[in-house]
Amino acid sequence: MMTYRNLLLLFVTLLFTASVCSGNPKSILERISADKACVKMKEKGFRPIAEQQSERFLGKVAEDTANCRGGEKAVSRRDSVWVDWANYWGTGDASSKTEGLGAITELGRHLKPNVRGVDGALIDLEYQRMELIRFNLYDNKTFESYVKGDGKIPGTVLKTWDAMRLPASHPQFQQVTNDKGQQVCAGDLIRYRNLTGICNDIYNPAMGSTNQLFARNVRFESTFPQLGENELARNRHADRLDLLKPDPQIISRKLFTRSQEKPEACNLGQGLPDNAKNAQCDYKKAPFFNVLAAYWIQFMTHDWFYHLREGHNSDEKMSVGCATQLVNNHEQPVTAEQAAKLGCRPNDKVDVAFVAQHEPAPTFEYEGKTYLSRAPRTTENNVTAWWDASQIYGFDDLSLKRVKRDPNDSAKLLMIQRGKHAGAGEQFGYLPVFNSCENSDAGCVADPINPGWKGQEAAAFADNWTVGLSFYHNLFVREHNLFVDAFRAKAAATPQADSGLRNPTNPEQAIPYKAVSNEELFQIARLVVAAEIAKIHTTEWTTQLLYDEPLFLGMNANWNGLLQKDDPVSNMLEKITVNRLAKSKDPTLANQFYSAFAAGAGIFGLGSHRYEDRLGVIRDSLDKKDIWDLRNPEHVNGGVNHFGSPFNFPEEFPTVYRLHPLVPDLLEFRELQNPNLISKKIPVISTFQGKATQAMTDGGLGNWALSMGRQRLGLLTLQNHPQFLQNLELKRLQSETNKIDIAALDLIRDRERGVPRFNEFRRQYGLTQLTSFDDFVDKRLKNDSAEQKEQKRLIGILREVYGQHKCDSSKVITDAQLNPDGSAINDCLGHPNGSMVDNIEDVDTVVGWLAEFTRPHGFAISETQFHVFILNASRRLFSDRFFTSSFRPEFYSTLGVQWVMNNGPDGKQWEADSYNGHKVEVSPLKRIMLRTMPELSGQLAGVMNVFDPWARDRGEYYSLQWKPKAGAVSDESFH
Ligand code: HEM
Repeated sequence: MMTYRNLLLLFVTLLFTASVCSGNPKSILERISADKACVKMKEKGFRPIAEQQSERFLGKVAEDTANCRGGEKAVSRRDSVWVDWANYWGTGDASSKTEGLGAITELGRHLKPNVRGVDGALIDLEYQRMELIRFNLYDNKTFESYVKGDGKIPGTVLKTWDAMRLPASHPQFQQVTNDKGQQVCAGDLIRYRNLTGICNDIYNPAMGSTNQLFARNVRFESTFPQLGENELARNRHADRLDLLKPDPQIISRKLFTRSQEKPEACNLGQGLPDNAKNAQCDYKKAPFFNVLAAYWIQFMTHDWFYHLREGHNSDEKMSVGCATQLVNNHEQPVTAEQAAKLGCRPNDKVDVAFVAQHEPAPTFEYEGKTYLSRAPRTTENNVTAWWDASQIYGFDDLSLKRVKRDPNDSAKLLMIQRGKHAGAGEQFGYLPVFNSCENSDAGCVADPINPGWKGQEAAAFADNWTVGLSFYHNLFVREHNLFVDAFRAKAAATPQADSGLRNPTNPEQAIPYKAVSNEELFQIARLVVAAEIAKIHTTEWTTQLLYDEPLFLGMNANWNGLLQKDDPVSNMLEKITVNRLAKSKDPTLANQFYSAFAAGAGIFGLGSHRYEDRLGVIRDSLDKKDIWDLRNPEHVNGGVNHFGSPFNFPEEFPTVYRLHPLVPDLLEFRELQNPNLISKKIPVISTFQGKATQAMTDGGLGNWALSMGRQRLGLLTLQNHPQFLQNLELKRLQSETNKIDIAALDLIRDRERGVPRFNEFRRQYGLTQLTSFDDFVDKRLKNDSAEQKEQKRLIGILREVYGQHKCDSSKVITDAQLNPDGSAINDCLGHPNGSMVDNIEDVDTVVGWLAEFTRPHGFAISETQFHVFILNASRRLFSDRFFTSSFRPEFYSTLGVQWVMNNGPDGKQWEADSYNGHKVEVSPLKRIMLRTMPELSGQLAGVMNVFDPWARDRGEYYSLQWKPKAGAVSDESFH
């Protein structure tokens, strides 16, 4: 019989056979050393999951591990503050690969250097996720119970909270409250995604609903550092911080402004008259990500979170800086002349952000320690936190009034014929415009809108509208209607057939197609559209945002599982996860192991099949009878896991989504008849708010798809913010200038909401701290290269803006981490006591992540942002019943389930070419584009990922080259 020892021996033998049989002598020697390191690494075994925050992984591995997974390169780069996995074999482009023998078996494949590099990266990422789940959940309403438990079970495995009940004043209170006073959603309330997001979790009706508090991912004590409410914060920042200190407009103008070769041709982002083509606004471009991707993420954030209400903040106004700057480390007033030269405006004013709770946070004691039970101030998320397409379908009664149903078919959303273009997609129409009842009859009912939105196309979420948002709203409304058409076609063909739907109030009765009402069909289409959006984001947008092999595998694992769905091992992992781990009272099993096993099975659809819970894993896996039952609330809700903390986004989440540099100032407009030609340069600002309608009508959806599909978006880096956003005119401001610098406002808002500054932010998230601004410089660059010089130049400005101070080693500045020798981290960050050190602790988090020049291959975002996503993007799936145990025909219909699984009607479709070594399905967004705009078929042929610039030759393995593909050589953007 094969024992574990024998298995290990076989493993080692294979490992050496694979390593010595090929390649040149140097690489053979390196690989022998690396293979020996693998043996040592295996002998030591897996590292334990940290018990204490100070013992966390930090993304840094032991020397043997680095050697095993990436050889000398990975070992030599361990002494940086950045994560190690980015240096493993196979995690970059083709140059990150090393030679190896062809695999004979699947096991043999995993011993090959490139594969073990990628596997190693996936293991590191899972450690990060497990520890993020363990250390970074801080809910503003339930934290005390998270720490203390309920007297019977630990707080980290609690699954229901009183704070997530509907209050007695809520219109659905009676409906959800039973005789015993418990709240359990049932009947109509669990059938669809409800307008305000209630009853997604049937036992926690209020969770994720509109107006719930944002959570936090960092200790409450580390928030609002400028208030100096605890000694650590005072030690960390002395008296250097305030709402407008360091001055946000000065930071914006010095560190965010795009430099222009021809400022007059950019005209502060306003371009030239008649959208002239010789307008020019320079920006730093990402070669592997397009403008469609920029607007996609804005479209997503409008679904997930919103601090404002109906496009405004509170009534109070405040100044926004352009008042002081550091000169040789001393604060000086900014003179009018200096302000003019910098471009900042001392007379700008903005509305102060909303705050939900101002009063001092209560504290509680546990095991001799005192804790804040919430952050010193809290704020509300004014949309549903669920991935429910609420930006299209609404999130409260007012926004619902902006959602226009088709009066001829109320299962559909209203589209009108407005276009004048040739494409076959034009027949599907465009969104109607908001009705403001000007020059109308007395009976006219105006749409409820902020005056700034007049003339815009109708959408539930209407703020910060431009042609980019118009594009996605039009696209998904067309898709909604196409699903309705397809469903109706089935109903016409087979009216008596079972649609798969069931009504929870009458679960036994099959619902034939002909009995499905318009309202039911509308709600099913919403479920389908929301799931398609989540799938696009997870498997298509993110795999291009993080363009390398580990993330391709990791993101597909979040959706489908590391193995493919429906293979025996995935089924077994799903059973273990749902039947066993989910029910465990041991937090490590219920949370950390749950997360790791779910990566194998896939989060999407977790718990949507149920099998008898028999003893014996092997027997379990053979049992195929699905006993999922709509009458059983445990089945309906059993696939969700909130890890002891109710789901909502943390305040830190919007911070890492402040992605304004993605947006170019000018959109390069092209037409399908001549795709290589840029015919106009349309300023984004000329498509702002109501102006988007004309831009969309004039351009046509298909041409806009092509234009934004071919143009590269802006890199997330310093000195790359759009000029138009630094000079944005907003009528609501009613200030002397009526203008606002959105880049500066990004910093102010984070300060108002108490987001910790960059270095503490990293420590809280389990990443290595920086000890000076120099740590930002990418150590992989050649000395004196142009890139290195540029990074050093920017670091110089960081130092000038944030300054330095004389450090005091007696001041402890954090309790989130310790020095490697176990001592407390102090104000000197390892530098000699009394020396001048950089004010790295003061750097605003947005500035910090923009300054991260060292990134894993193909990362359009920084590693700090990425860690926020690892936790919250996974939770957004883990917590949502409609993406886990309720992803069922009973809710979605059989057609709906197939539509999501297969990316539309007519079964799965596969790309002819493979993709970085993978055979891939035609992507979900490509399928939607082809359905809603058939005129794109020529342009989309050969496009594997709609977010990769359409004319780029993707080259070999994760290449980032900017080279035209065949047929696009004359495209001007390659000149
Ligand atoms: C294209 C034109 C855009 C315009 C005109 C615009 C404008 C604005 C404005 C006016 C605010 C509100 C500031 C406040 O009062 O707090 C804002 C916030 C924000 N923007 Fe943009 N933005 C644009 C694109 C983007 C893009 C592409 C993203 C990418 C994700 C983005 C992400 C955000 C985020 C995360 C916030 C904070 C929202 C909140 O606090 O709830 N924006 N933007």
